[in-house]
Amino acid sequence: MANISTRFFGLELKSPVIAASSSMTGHAEQVVKLAEAGAGAIVLKSIFEEEIYHELQEELNLRTELTADPEYLDYFDYVIKEETIRKYLKLISDVKAKTSVPVVASINCISSGEWTLFARKIQDAGADAIELNMFASPSDFNKTGSANEQFYFETISKVIQVVKIPVSIKISHYFSNLAEMVQKLALTGISGITVFNRFYSPDIDVNHQKIITAGILSSPDDYLLPLRWTGILSGGLVCNLAATTGIHTAETALKFILAGASAVQIASVLYKEGPGAITEMNNGISNWMDQNGYASLNDFKGTLSQSVSSVQAWERVQFMKYFGEKAF
Ligand SMILES: Cc1cc2nc3c(=O)[nH]c(=O)nc-3n(C[C@H](O)[C@H](O)[C@H](O)COP(=O)(O)O)c2cc1C
Repeated sequence: MANISTRFFGLELKSPVIAASSSMTGHAEQVVKLAEAGAGAIVLKSIFEEEIYHELQEELNLRTELTADPEYLDYFDYVIKEETIRKYLKLISDVKAKTSVPVVASINCISSGEWTLFARKIQDAGADAIELNMFASPSDFNKTGSANEQFYFETISKVIQVVKIPVSIKISHYFSNLAEMVQKLALTGISGITVFNRFYSPDIDVNHQKIITAGILSSPDDYLLPLRWTGILSGGLVCNLAATTGIHTAETALKFILAGASAVQIASVLYKEGPGAITEMNNGISNWMDQNGYASLNDFKGTLSQSVSSVQAWERVQFMKYFGEKAF
């Protein structure tokens, strides 16, 4: 059987198939099932900055009579955050006690605020690495691109300063000059970058003329955007690249490895098919390698990336030639 081990998060992983952060990775028992199914690593459900602040705000609204007291506020702020953090740290230590698979804590960050101090607690609880799920919405008409980008560098720098374990990031594609930005991020000292996170999307119900939530889970066709950028970016970075979004089968996972990804992060297919999807992917990757005479992932990783194969194939964006030749 082929060796499907790889390196991502600055760690040796026995499989390139990683259980991505989601509510599926928020309970120790569930994490154990994902590990038993053969996950190379587990990224725990994110702890959200907003979650902490939201929880605080709700409690404050309930206790308006007390909110005038600054000492109480200080105390309250402290207790709420401690409780949220305590639960998260317990999740890390519970998971570490139950499985030997690498456990990656995830922080959902939208600012480079005080939460960066929590990173050390996460390390002390036994996490093998940290993933920063980073998103600064480029939706402010008055904010420049560079001001937005500053958030990424400040946050990474603050976290890297307080921990010794590897730090990686998961990002969106909302950057004005994606390749240059990702290259600069890779040079900050992070151990890996995952492209691209999938976000909540609003949709519109025309029958009721209201805004609704688009599908939460990805579909198997959603992989093409991260695939293109994996192919373009992978050969030019000083850190490892992983991919997420729309990876539902071994075949799709193999496409990413051929494009230069060191690993893939999956969530939606785990909701649809359960932990067995990981076993199936591992077996599919291994069987394909056996059929093609590859002993290890490095034998074919990146062989179809832009830096090794065709620049044009990855860069082409217009359909002009296609439409010129095909008749409908
Ligand atoms: C229900 C659900 C919850 C998620 N929660 C998180 C989260 O807490 N933190 C995070 O970084 N990503 C979260 N994600 C994103 C996934 O980790 C993953 O990167 C994304 O869904 C793309 O992979 P997929 O197409 O396999 O679902 C969530 C995804 C889903 C579907």
